[in-house]
Amino acid sequence: MTEAPATASELKPVLVFDSGIGGLTVLREARVLMPERGFIYVADDAGFPYGGWEEQALRERILTLFADLLSRFDPELCIIACNTAFTLAGNDLRAAFPHMRFVGTVPAIKPAAERTRSGLVSVLATPGTVKRAYTRELISSFATRCHVRLVGSQNLARMAEAYIRGEPVSDESVAEEIAPCFIEDEGRRTDIVVLACTHYPFMANLFRKLAPWPVDWLDPAEAIARQARRLTPLSRDALQHPEDQDFAVFTSGNPDFSTRRLMQGFGLRT
Ligand code: DGL
Repeated sequence: MTEAPATASELKPVLVFDSGIGGLTVLREARVLMPERGFIYVADDAGFPYGGWEEQALRERILTLFADLLSRFDPELCIIACNTAFTLAGNDLRAAFPHMRFVGTVPAIKPAAERTRSGLVSVLATPGTVKRAYTRELISSFATRCHVRLVGSQNLARMAEAYIRGEPVSDESVAEEIAPCFIEDEGRRTDIVVLACTHYPFMANLFRKLAPWPVDWLDPAEAIARQARRLTPLSRDALQHPEDQDFAVFTSGNPDFSTRRLMQGFGLRT
């Protein structure tokens, strides 16, 4: 007897995780490549921002959260759409849940090192991500021939949340946060800035406008989505998943009105 073709609603969903709304920049790419899958978006807004957390406490928080999320939602695969979380707890998640596949987000230092012409690359991230051993290892493995400046912004993740909700964010305050990324040295200038926090691509247009000179702003979202696609079996018979069944989960249990509206704009029920 041959098996009946899987309908889209019978396929397991993909879980996308971030501390806040930054993972939406990855979700939108993943949806394009995995139209047959449902998506569950999880924001640990009760723990936001992750950037300033002490490492052991954050690691424990993430592992405890995932024990619950995996048993509640039984996803096909999890995309950790957060550099701050994955550079800290990616290996721990894989060790703790060996039957689950995790696609991670790490600073795009390798592609930046391959593409830079000036040899001056900056990594714009949270303070947590710039402190990580993982980030230092990426530099020593892939970028020893470049000068990599790590810029850990205290405020940009919060600013990005405000900006995407339509709250006012002043040009001066954003310009101040990105200024340390721009280096001039013996006639050379920074030519690539890695967006190493998934919140930041929401502000890329503003960054372009406020930058002292043009640079490439590297957003890894599409590469993450491609990796998720590679690891997710594609059933030829599966139909397009109806987007209105996707939903968002907030660990606070209580997202505000503008956040709910934003989620609706991304086709996520709250
Ligand atoms: N979006 C997260 C990241 O990619 C971090 C934002 C935060 O919680 O500080 O690192």
